[in-house]
Amino acid sequence: MRDVTPENLTAAFAAYAANAKDARSREVLCALAKHLHAFVRETRLTHAEWMGALMALTREGQISDDARNEFILFSDLLGVSALVDMVNTPPAATSCSNLGPFHQRGAPALPNGGDLWRGQAGEPLLVMGRVVDGTTGAALAGARLDLWQNADNGFYAVQDAAQPDKNYHALLACADDGSFAFTTTKPKPYTVPYDGPAGDMLRLLGRDAWRPAHLHVIAEAPGFRPLVTEIFPDDDPYLDSDAVFGVRADLVVKLRQVGPDAAPDFLAARAALPETFLLAEMVLRLARE
Ligand code: BEZ
Ligand code: FE
Repeated sequence: MRDVTPENLTAAFAAYAANAKDARSREVLCALAKHLHAFVRETRLTHAEWMGALMALTREGQISDDARNEFILFSDLLGVSALVDMVNTPPAATSCSNLGPFHQRGAPALPNGGDLWRGQAGEPLLVMGRVVDGTTGAALAGARLDLWQNADNGFYAVQDAAQPDKNYHALLACADDGSFAFTTTKPKPYTVPYDGPAGDMLRLLGRDAWRPAHLHVIAEAPGFRPLVTEIFPDDDPYLDSDAVFGVRADLVVKLRQVGPDAAPDFLAARAALPETFLLAEMVLRLARE
């Protein structure tokens, strides 16, 4: 093309990609270029603004390392991670939501009925639920949960040298009827890192960095798609302003104050629980592979 204009540039981009070997790569990259071109036309983006964006991306690379990925955070804060989650949630399944950066492989095994609270600071919380086939509602034998959350001070174990290794991280094998129960403490709201270019974007938008409290869960069962999600207590002040857009209606769980009768006999911490404590109940629906 010898006469590139604002009007024909997007078509030129697609034509130049005519020899792409992989049709999906061509589709995705041409769509990306189309929307970026439209964005520049719509906003009449200035050189200074585009250079500012490129410098922010450069700083994102510079600030990222094995422990921190500013690109993923930028995707989270832009709502792109949430949208990828939502367009990939099968209709019958529980909504998927952010994996986040604090998942640890090889969490310690926790027996069904086990205890993550272990008398630590915070409000004791009994979590009970079932993993089911999202289409039929049938209980799923062989279901497994990978669980993690922050401590009462708002920090995950990897962020806080004072916590034992993999504190509040666990792998729980559910009962044959897909049911599970464990005790923990009520998770706390916390801020995502805002000292880098992603935080600069929040400040430009007049937004804050808070996430509502949540329990992270990966639920798996043989023959079913793994569900990566989060469960949010319904009384959190940040439910309507989650910095990473992770909240969905089916992930918000009502917490109830209950007494000892609510605790099943096999609960390891049954005798240590106070007179009244919090209960969260949930059903995790998985979709077939
Ligand atoms: C989290 O939920 O752990 C998380 C998600 C996105 C950014 C930072 C933290
Ligand atoms: Fe989290």
